[in-house]
Order: sequence, then structure tokens, then C-alpha cells
Amino acid sequence: MKLSPRLNAINQLVTQPYTHIWDCCCDHGFLGAHLLLQGMAETVHFVDSVSSICQQLENKLTRFSPPTQNNTSPHWQVHCADVASLKLAQSARQLVIIAGVGGELSIKLLTGLLEHNAQLDFDIIVCPVHEQFQLRQFLITRNLKLISEQIIEDNQRYYELLYLSRHAKQALTSTGEMWNLRLDAHQRYLDKTIQHYQQRSRSRPHPALSAYLKIQQNPGIA
Ligand SMILES: C[S@@+](CC[C@H](N)C(=O)[O-])C[C@H]1O[C@@H](n2cnc3c(N)ncnc32)[C@H](O)[C@@H]1O
Repeated sequence: MKLSPRLNAINQLVTQPYTHIWDCCCDHGFLGAHLLLQGMAETVHFVDSVSSICQQLENKLTRFSPPTQNNTSPHWQVHCADVASLKLAQSARQLVIIAGVGGELSIKLLTGLLEHNAQLDFDIIVCPVHEQFQLRQFLITRNLKLISEQIIEDNQRYYELLYLSRHAKQALTSTGEMWNLRLDAHQRYLDKTIQHYQQRSRSRPHPALSAYLKIQQNPGIA
């Protein structure tokens, strides 16, 4: 099973094992299955709210159970649950991944997760479809800092991939600091984003428009 460029970019971010990894909104579970195969967590948790998806995945994982170097099976669990009300494990080293859903839904899920697990410390990888500006503004209000950020092109679509922790040093900004407009993909993504906010500014100027126009006019200050 080959990962798409988007899922592969997420997979490559995880270079050090975690105790628990939560593949939230997992659907097919490809990402979590890769992380499981690579031994990137003691337990990989697959979470989706659709019971037929969870049942299929559970059957697939039961058949698949990959062997490891020392012949112990890595652990996995499937949770049929709303990510917004998920209770994470009592563990210091865990990672929550939310990818492939809209920015607004990502905000809703993260609001619930942060509220229900306020006493816990966990890293987050988020890679939404659309509404990156709003999501970034929300994450800033929650004091999350950047481990890394990047733009991914996949099948003529563009995604922002954010790796976050409360303990990282780099501040998050509303539009990001990862722009390199010498790269065609970044320029195309910026053009598309500006067009989108120009359309949304027809009745009332959207604050994101002036922020993205600044990057266009002066890439050095992005
Ligand atoms: C498009 S798939 C994304 C699959 C994968 N994460 C990816 O990036 O390719 C979105 C999945 O999110 C699930 N989902 C949507 N809202 C959810 C929620 N509140 N809690 C858990 N899963 C949810 C859907 O059932 C669906 O399987």
C-alpha cells in the first residue's frame, strides 16, 4: 500500500517513536498502518466516527498484525468515536494526527480534544483541507508552537502541514513562514489562496487577503 504524497509527508515527520499515536479521522487507516509497521508507537490508535469504517479496519488489522524485529507484535486499537470527545492516554509522549478534514472541523475537534485532555501534554500534526488561516489563528490562541511547517502539493491540490507542540520554540503565524516563492508550487498555492480570499472579500474585506498579499509583495517578511 503506497501512501499519497500528502500522507507520506505526514509519515516522514514522525522520526522518533511515541508511546501512543492517534490517527484521528483515520478512514482507510493507511497512515496509522504505516506508522504501526515502522514501530513508531507502542500503541497506534485508529479513530473514526463511522462504525462500518471502524469494523472494516478492525478486520483488516486483525489479519495484518505485522511482525517486528524482536518478534513482538506492536499494539493497535480501533475506536469508533467522535474525536472531539476523545480521552487520550495518561502518557507523557503521545501524538495526535488530524488530516484530510476541513479546517473548521479540525478546529472543532481540537477544541474538544484540548478541553477533554487539558491536563495532558501531546504533540499534534494537523493537515487540513482548506481554511488554514482560520485554523492557524485558532492554534495561536491555544499557545501551540511550531516544530515544523510545510506546503505539500498532491494531485494539483495544496495542503499545509503543521507539526505542533506546547514546548517548541518557534511561534506560529497566521499565514506561515514556510513560503519559498522561487518554488512554482508555493507561488501557485499563494496565487490560488489570494484568489480565494479576493472572492470572499467582495462584500467585506477578509483579513486574510491583506496578509497573503503582503507575502506576494514582500516574500522576505512572510
Ligand atoms: C476524508 S477522510 C480522511 C482520511 C485520512 N485521515 C486522510 O487524511 O486521508 C475523513 C474521515 O473523518 C471521519 N470523521 C469525520 N468527522 C469525525 C469525527 N468528529 N470524529 C471522528 N471521525 C470523523 C470520517 O468518517 C472520514 O472517515
